[in-house]
Parts: sequence; C-alpha cells; structure tokens
Amino acid sequence: MILSRIIGCGGYLPQKVLTNDDLSKNLDTSHDWIVGRSGINQRHIAADDELTSDLGLAAARNAIKDSGISPQEIDLLILATSTPDNTFPATATKIQSKLGMGCGLAFDVQAVCAGFICAFSIANNFIKSGQAKTALVIGAETYSRILDWKDRGTCVLFGDGAGAVILRSEEGNDNKDRAGILSTCMYSNGDYYKALYVDGGVSTTQTAGYLRMEGREVFKHAVEKLTSAANEALNLASLNIENVDWLIPHQANLRIIDAIAKKLELDKKKLIITVDQHANTSSASIPLALSAAIKDGRINAGDIIVLEAIGGGLVWGAGVARW
Ligand code: UT7
Repeated sequence: MILSRIIGCGGYLPQKVLTNDDLSKNLDTSHDWIVGRSGINQRHIAADDELTSDLGLAAARNAIKDSGISPQEIDLLILATSTPDNTFPATATKIQSKLGMGCGLAFDVQAVCAGFICAFSIANNFIKSGQAKTALVIGAETYSRILDWKDRGTCVLFGDGAGAVILRSEEGNDNKDRAGILSTCMYSNGDYYKALYVDGGVSTTQTAGYLRMEGREVFKHAVEKLTSAANEALNLASLNIENVDWLIPHQANLRIIDAIAKKLELDKKKLIITVDQHANTSSASIPLALSAAIKDGRINAGDIIVLEAIGGGLVWGAGVARW
C-alpha cells in the first residue's frame, strides 16, 4: 500500500512587522480591540519588491533543506495562492524554474484560505494513485496587496507569508501504525460566494480589487464547518478526538480556534497557535503553524495531527496524518 508521508516542512515570513499599535496610528482601531476580537498582535508585510513567488520560493527552499532531498527529485509542485504574481502563467511554474526542478508538473490551486489543505489533498491523491513520487506543496500569499487599508473590519486581520511541505510516496505493508497521511476531506458551497470575496478581477473590473468580508457570517461557518471537517477526517482514518495529539487549524481568529476546540472537546494544550504572531496568512497559515511546531520540538514521531482550514468560496476541509 502506498502512503504519502510529510518528510520536510519550512516557512518564510517577510522581515517587516506591523503591530496593532502601528495600525492604530492611521486607522480608527486599537490594540485592545484587535487582540480582544481576534487574538492578533502583529503581522508581517512583504517588501515592495517581494512577490508571492519570492515568499513561496524561500519557504520551499527551507522545506527542501529540512527534507534532505534535492529539487530534481520533486515531480509535482502545487502552489496554493489567491495572490499570484501574474494572472497567468501559474506562479508555481516560476518557482519550479527558480528551484531548478527540471521537469515534472507545477500548477496553482485557488481555494483562498483553504488553498493549502486543498493542494495537500490533491498532492496526496497524486501520490496514492502513483502519478507522483515526491510533491512540494506550498501556500504563499501577499494579502497586503489586496487589503483596503481604510477598512478596519478586514485590514487588521491579515498578513503576508509562506509555508511549504514535502510529501513523499512510501510503499509498505498495511500496518495501521505507519506514518503518513491517513485521510483528507474537502467541500465547497458557492452559495456563500459573497461572504468573503475580492471586489475586482480580470473578467469583471480588470483590476486586482480589494478583499471584502461579512465577518460574523464567516465566523459562524468557520466554527461549524471546521468542527465537522475534523470529525469527518478522523472518522475516515478510523480515529477519534482522543487520538489527536495536535490540531493545526487555519489561523484566522483565536476565538474561532477556541470555539472549535470546545465543540470538539479537545484540550486547548493540543492546539498549535500562530495567529497572534502572523495574523491570517490565508493559504500559508497551516504550513507556517506546522513548521513553527516542528521547529520547537512539539511534534514527535507517531503523533496524530489534524490540519483544517476554511476560506472564500466557501471552501473547507481537513486532513489527518501520523507523524
Ligand atoms: O480565513 C477565513 C476568513 N476569515 C475569518 O475567519 C474571519 C471571521 N470573522 C472574524 O474573525 C470576526 O467576525 C471579526 C474579527 C472580523 C470581527 O469580530 P466581531 O466580534 O464579529 O465584530 P463585529 O464585526 O460584529 O464588529 C463589532 C464592532 C462594530 O461596531 P458596532 O457596529 O458594534 O458599533 C465594528 O464596526 O466592532 C467594530 N469594528 C472595529 N472596531 C475597532 C470592526 N473592526 C474594528 C476594528 N477596530 N478594527
């Protein structure tokens, strides 16, 4: 039986840090409001000459280094992003060239904040079907370029960053304790298209547009759908909440994460939290949180980890892996 295993992980954050106090200098907001309603203290912002591909490339290089493989071994690269360098070609192909990957397949996935879990799920299926052996899955975003910096209801919540993982195909027996990705599940419901969207685009306004969000509506769906997705992914892996060592949820709002833990009856000590430091980095949030937890030694061999995210569309999903 083939399983895909996470053999490397890396993150990259731009140097510039924007604190809540920095924001409150030009906006009718305060550190207390932002931290109280979202748990966010600060976010990183890309330099003017830093593109999504630069962030993605830096995270990819860190993940490749962590895995010990060479870029030429990668035969599948999926970049999750909703802030590509150009309308086309896929930003993934630029990263493919800069890595010196050679051939293989590189493409972008657009599922907003659920982009990483979607790309992760696609890469897992490519590997399990034998179509790829070594996959690089990246989430990279420059949301600072699509934020309306006068809209206090949205601009305080997001940041720039990138994270990446290397997945590798491993043949083996069907021993139930093998490390690897055990399950994934993904859904979307386009009836909520306007709950979180960008008010521009190639076919509509020929501009990039700005992010618009009905915060309370998205909050409600996030708690409900991320709770059910985690339970479903665990069920598909024949596990339950007591088996979980770490939950790595999409980092949008600490109140959403706390509410999910409560509904799942999961001990809060098992939550990986980076939203306080990075804010919402959309598709980069899960691999950034994962790489932070690996770096500080929290995740150990044999641990059961659950990844989950929701974003514009609405699109949502979850995955379970044994480390
Ligand atoms: O990646 C997935 C996408 N994103 C999410 O998951 C985010 C989901 N939503 C949320 O995280 C929360 O709904 C927010 C953080 C966006 C907002 O929190 P809330 O508790 O739902 O606040 P609210 O939108 O109901 O606003 C409460 C008040 C309003 O004032 P009034 O109408 O009560 O007088 C807002 O105008 O807070 C005001 N407000 C602010 N005040 C100070 C909104 N933004 C700010 C701000 N600073 N930055």
